[in-house]
Amino acid sequence: MTKGKFITLEGVEGVGKSTNLELISALVKSGGHDVLVTREPGGTTLGERVREILLDKDEHGMTPMAELLLMFAARAQHVEEVIRPALARGTWVVSDRFTDSSYAYQGGGRQLGSNTVAELEHQVLGGFKPDLVVILDLDVQAGLERASKVSEADRFESEERAFFERVRAAFIGRSTKAGYQLVDAGRPLADVQADITIIIKKLFE
Ligand code: TYD
Repeated sequence: MTKGKFITLEGVEGVGKSTNLELISALVKSGGHDVLVTREPGGTTLGERVREILLDKDEHGMTPMAELLLMFAARAQHVEEVIRPALARGTWVVSDRFTDSSYAYQGGGRQLGSNTVAELEHQVLGGFKPDLVVILDLDVQAGLERASKVSEADRFESEERAFFERVRAAFIGRSTKAGYQLVDAGRPLADVQADITIIIKKLFE
C-alpha cells in the first residue's frame, strides 16, 4: 500500500506561511502526488468551531491549560477524521501548523513547558508525527508588522512582543530535531522559496 507523507509548516505570525503553503502544495503535486492542504487549529467542522473560540479576542481569561487542551481537542479530531485517512489513501497532507505550534505557543509563549505538551502529545497522538516540519524563522517585530497589514489582530496577535520572542525561541529550539528544517524567512521571497523547493524535492527521493 502506498502511503502519503505528512508535511507541516510552522512559524511566528507574519512569517509568510500562506504563500509558502501554496508553493509546497504545488511542489507536491508536481511530484505526481495527490495533496490535501489543511490547517490547525481547524481542518474539521469541530476544529473550525474550536478555532473560532481560540482566536476570539472577546474570549477573556482563557487559561493556558484550557487553551492547550482546546488545541489538542481540535487536533485529535483532525488526525482521526482527516489526516490519517488521507495518508492511508496515499494522499500527501500539508498542514498550516500542527503540534509544534503547541510547543511554541502554549509550551513557550504561555510558559506551560515542553513536558506538559509532550505528555498530551503522547496521550493524543501516540507516536504519530509529521515526516517533515518546515519552520519559517523571522524577526518577531518584522513578523508582527507584516501580520498587522494582512488582517485585524486576533487573540494571539494581540499578545505582547515578549510572548512572541518566547514562541520564536521555542520554534528554534525544536528545529534541531530529526525531520525538521529551519528556513530564514527574513530574506527575499525567491531565496526562501528556493530553499523550500530543495527541501521538498528531497522527500521525493
Ligand atoms: P494561524 O492559522 O497562523 O492564524 P492566521 O491565519 O491568522 O495567520 O494560527 C492561528 C493561531 O493559533 C496562531 O496565532 C498560533 C495559534 N496556535 C497555537 O497557539 N497553538 C497551536 O497548537 C496551534 C495549532 C496554533
